Amino acid sequence: MNNGQKPRLLIARAIFPQVIERLQQYFEVEHNQDDVMWTPQQLQQRLQDKLALFATPSEKIDAALLDACPNLRMLGLMAVGFNNVDLSQATKNRVMVSNTPDVLTETTADFGWALMLAAARRVTESEHWLRAGHWQNWRYDSFLGVDLYRSTLGILGMGRIGQAIARRASGFQMQVLYHNRRHLSPEQEQTLNARWVSKEELLKQADHLILMLPYSSATHHTLGAAELALMKPTSVLVNLARGGIVDDVALCAALREGKIAAAGLDVFENEPRLLPDFLSLKNVVLTPHIASASTATRQAMAMCAVDNLVAMVQEGKPRNWVNPFSA
Ligand code: GLV
Repeated sequence: MNNGQKPRLLIARAIFPQVIERLQQYFEVEHNQDDVMWTPQQLQQRLQDKLALFATPSEKIDAALLDACPNLRMLGLMAVGFNNVDLSQATKNRVMVSNTPDVLTETTADFGWALMLAAARRVTESEHWLRAGHWQNWRYDSFLGVDLYRSTLGILGMGRIGQAIARRASGFQMQVLYHNRRHLSPEQEQTLNARWVSKEELLKQADHLILMLPYSSATHHTLGAAELALMKPTSVLVNLARGGIVDDVALCAALREGKIAAAGLDVFENEPRLLPDFLSLKNVVLTPHIASASTATRQAMAMCAVDNLVAMVQEGKPRNWVNPFSA
């Protein structure tokens, strides 16, 4: 950066070629277009001479890595969630961390509805059955599901994405209940037609429950066996926030024993190595962490991460700085 040299940057995973081109204007870039899954040691080794890292949710940026990479000063995450980064260690080590909020809100909310509809109306289960050649006749009781229309939608975690999900509920004439540490303002509640209830009430009343909480040690296993037991046996659970918010072992048991009707899951504990039990359950729709994956949105997220990194170089701080500290 000083003496006319561009700072060195590592891109941890394969990415849109235009991201590399743009970053090359400001950084000396090492990329990974073959998408080799580096071990933590290999990542650490590649970061030794780097000032900046373009990262995704799949890299674990823990205290050990941060301490072992003393030259690292900038971390541009292509994600809104940053639970894969040890933020307090990053702050201690004066590493600026940025994320990509806003650009993925609507696409992620759309996907919440896709999962909710697919799980409630048994879309993937019936398609697998059809593809397997089982369809001989129409039957009155084929794949009976749960209605969304005029049912109660529960949203646990009412940030930007939770609110975008709530906005979509009016077309289904749903009653919207939510639980969040912070209440929305009366005006926001009126616009969204949403009502704050306790977590217990939410679990008891929701016909469809969407989890939209950030993951942290405080939200670990927010939904375990005791919470699942409060839900209606006809209810549908959707998680597109983060694995670890739900106790997956308890969820598999609840799905197997009919404690809830179905689930739509985009995130898992220890993903991508999800519990094998999930694969044998028919009443769960499983997707590989793709809630933000429309072409336009993934491009916007990548460019937002680039903008943050460029701003760190040019303005001394990123636009979306998640661990602000003074110089
Ligand atoms: C994806 O999971 C994100 O946090 O953006």
